Amino acid sequence: MPFQLSLLHLSALAILVLSSALFSQGRLAVAPAICASHDLPNPLAELFPNNATGVLNATLAIIPIPLDMARRLIPPQYGILERAYRALLPDFPEAMYPVLVQAAHDHDVQFRAYGITIDDFSRVGFEFPFLDLLGDGYSSFRWAPAQLISATNPIALEGSRAYGTVVSPAEYEPVCDAYSVLASGATYFKGSSLESSEFFEVEMAPVHHPAFNPYPLELFKNITNQPTFANATTCDNMIRLFNTSMTTGGHAPVAVHGRVRANTFPFGKAAREWTGVYGVQVATPFIENNYLDCQTMQGYAGTGGPGDSYTSTKTSDDL
Ligand SMILES: *[C@@H]1O[C@H](CO)[C@@H](O)[C@H](O)[C@H]1NC(C)=O
Ligand SMILES: *[C@@H]1O[C@H](CO)[C@@H](O)[C@H](O)[C@H]1NC(C)=O
Ligand SMILES: *[C@@H]1O[C@H](CO)[C@@H](O)[C@H](O)[C@H]1NC(C)=O
Ligand SMILES: *[C@@H]1O[C@H](CO)[C@@H](O)[C@H](O)[C@H]1NC(C)=O
Ligand SMILES: *[C@@H]1O[C@H](CO)[C@@H](O)[C@H](O)[C@H]1NC(C)=O
Repeated sequence: MPFQLSLLHLSALAILVLSSALFSQGRLAVAPAICASHDLPNPLAELFPNNATGVLNATLAIIPIPLDMARRLIPPQYGILERAYRALLPDFPEAMYPVLVQAAHDHDVQFRAYGITIDDFSRVGFEFPFLDLLGDGYSSFRWAPAQLISATNPIALEGSRAYGTVVSPAEYEPVCDAYSVLASGATYFKGSSLESSEFFEVEMAPVHHPAFNPYPLELFKNITNQPTFANATTCDNMIRLFNTSMTTGGHAPVAVHGRVRANTFPFGKAAREWTGVYGVQVATPFIENNYLDCQTMQGYAGTGGPGDSYTSTKTSDDL
């Protein structure tokens, strides 16, 4: 189909143009250090050679904030689809809104047919799901206005900036993984900007009594599959699959709770700490369709079908 072909060429072109621009600046002249990660390899590169694919190993957590605060933080032109998140979370506290914390390690990102692979990188930020970007009253989009991204990966930095994201090059602890494990058994992840005093720190421990965990995995699957935007010029369609061996069996998601400390946009510049934060640690492979016209994502309902539906009954009990 000519239309698909041209889209394919466009996204490949975007990556190629970015890489050649970076090459010409000589920034990639020095071979980047090889990051040995514990993450599993990308299982989709072979299945979708003509698409950008990769693995995201992430801590996803929800910070409930008052709706009126959400209203002040989120640009006024984007309505908040409270009905959509209440459909997934009937017991979510009144007059509150769920902010997503996404602290992730991007691993084994490839555009197989073009022989393109991208170095691993980490990124973290606050994200605002269930937004009515198109003003249609039902299509959920996610606003991800700012990210700390590994300074070692110029392609990721520029790729995110191309969405209008406020990007801060950062260093990470741990360097090559989604989190490290502390002596206490808790996990730790911290990103620190190299250009400002911004930082984002996440410390989590497994939830031992699943009944205390307020959020079903379905919620995270839904939120992470909503098309994402920053300044709304274009949208990112990242399809995250929750039905592969990376997310089931021995690698089933782990419900976690803990604390988040950060001073990044759009919260104020003073560091804030949230405790008693609940979420999940989950690794998913993804297919990413970049720089789409947001309008074409109207009514997007995830991958549908058995696709990313929640299949494992074991994890359903755990979460
Ligand atoms: C792969 O990329 C093509 C071209 O951009 C697109 O039409 C197709 O929907 C993508 N595949 C998936 C599974 O998203
Ligand atoms: C995700 O990262 C953690 C920490 O490095 C690692 O232990 C785990 O095996 C990773 N999960 C997958 C499925 O790659
Ligand atoms: C959004 O950001 C992109 C990339 O920086 C820029 O080209 C575009 O003009 C911006 N659009 C708006 C409406 O600010
Ligand atoms: C998220 O859940 C809402 C409410 O049930 C649903 O309308 C929407 O299609 C889901 N979106 C995704 C991306 O799964
Ligand atoms: C996983 O989800 C994808 C996307 O919807 C689907 O094509 C595939 O058949 C699913 N695999 C399994 C084993 O259910």
